[in-house]
Amino acid sequence: MKLVTVSALLCAMITLIVAAEEGGTEAKPSEEHLVEKRWYWYKYRGWYKYGNRYYRYFPYRLDWVHAQRHCQSMHANLASVRNLREYRVIQRVIYRATHSYPITWLGGSDAQKEHHWFWIDGTPFSFTYWCRGEPNNARHSEHCMHMNSSRHKCMNDIYCHYRYPYVCVWKRR
Ligand code: BGC
Ligand code: CA
Repeated sequence: MKLVTVSALLCAMITLIVAAEEGGTEAKPSEEHLVEKRWYWYKYRGWYKYGNRYYRYFPYRLDWVHAQRHCQSMHANLASVRNLREYRVIQRVIYRATHSYPITWLGGSDAQKEHHWFWIDGTPFSFTYWCRGEPNNARHSEHCMHMNSSRHKCMNDIYCHYRYPYVCVWKRR
């Protein structure tokens, strides 16, 4: 068989598998659905799946807002964390990419109102893994959350204009 034929066959098979995984119960997929599907297909590559969440580490050093902007451009958000297991999963994603634990942006922020923390992706804010004494809102102007701070690799609030790599997340519906 020609390589082109093999590739085409593979593509078709993968498309079928992806369709099967997604249920394929809808009678008439809307155009929106197809667009969504294409995004899924593109996004499976390079994203780590955990439950229905897909994580990816980006090594570019951006401030929190631009990191979130970049996540959004991929239909994702800066990562939220619901429990310690997810925190460890995100650390593993970072480790796989860097073989270390660099300070990395997460999607937590209390920029709207001091002490009122939110996850930018809308996840209810309950789990935290703050370092001892954090969040301390140093100089009354730390409103963004990063992880892997200090030797304990915990969360710290920090200036949003600082530049760090980041982890994005998107959720499969
Ligand atoms: C503090 C952190 C603070 C950081 C700012 C550290 O020494 O422990 O709370 O966010 O300095 O650079
Ligand atoms: Ca702090």
